Amino acid sequence: MAEYTDKNNSFKSLRDLPAQVDTNPETTARSRARYFNSGNAFMVGSSPIPDMVFEKEPRKAFSDSTATALIPCDISSQLGCNYAATSPLILVYYARINGGEVLPTIFNASGALAYVISGSGETSCQDEIIKWGKGDVFLMPGGKKQNHRAFEEPVILWIATNEPQLAFENSSIKDATLVSGMVHYPSQEINRQFDLVYSIDADQDVSGSAVIFSSCDQELNKNILPTLTAGINSLPPNAKQRPHRHNSIAISLVIEGEGCFSLIDGKKKKWLPWATMITPPVSVHSHHNDGNKMAKFLIVQDGGIYSYTRAMGFEFVDN
Ligand SMILES: [Fe+2]
Repeated sequence: MAEYTDKNNSFKSLRDLPAQVDTNPETTARSRARYFNSGNAFMVGSSPIPDMVFEKEPRKAFSDSTATALIPCDISSQLGCNYAATSPLILVYYARINGGEVLPTIFNASGALAYVISGSGETSCQDEIIKWGKGDVFLMPGGKKQNHRAFEEPVILWIATNEPQLAFENSSIKDATLVSGMVHYPSQEINRQFDLVYSIDADQDVSGSAVIFSSCDQELNKNILPTLTAGINSLPPNAKQRPHRHNSIAISLVIEGEGCFSLIDGKKKKWLPWATMITPPVSVHSHHNDGNKMAKFLIVQDGGIYSYTRAMGFEFVDN
């Protein structure tokens, strides 16, 4: 609540001073002004981003008693925002579509990325229709209506958008130039890209062996959307990714992996099937595969914004 300066000047620190208003608001425009200072206006978004694992939401998506719906991974109360959010800029959903049913979606986002966890079906958007199955990835334009139809079996999708980013700025996506149409990455082609990645020796300075998704619209950025990066990262059996940190947040979906875990700022996070994990920005993290099978995880990051602002802050942290 805005206040006038305490006449007795009883505040011990600039930090304790409430928002200030004009003492002589002769005009409405002057009455709208608020004044802060270097002590009370620094680090506004200071509630920490939790290194949490979403288990309840996938359990609900997999339950046969769940109706066709979007299930958001929403921690807006922890983040202190008044719109659904999994991180300050990203919102992730599980979608359950029961056999033969249709789920309509429209996202106020630059675009929406979907991964098919199980089942098969089709998505229509404007004058296009694509058929998809387990392991496929597809990208949809923001601001356009889609209809997702499950064939006979129930379908479970994982969907990532940058809706909180637009909500933060109270803005609406106006046209489809960022994603000019649906983009489809079938699982067979993704696997072929993995074979290619593994056929060429990775440099030690490259973090992990990943297939990164982009499109003809974002080819110059090499991203899925201007501010978001998305890819499937992999870890061979008995391997670990070098500990590192970056300023982007990572939101991961565990696709496959037995005996896998992540270390996030020294805390062990066991991989649970189809769980969504948050790796907070700047945290030192590494991923470990103690099992005998290749591990894979889909990662969405707000990395595009940090690349563009030259502020990724990536570094390996080996000790
Ligand atoms: Fe990372």
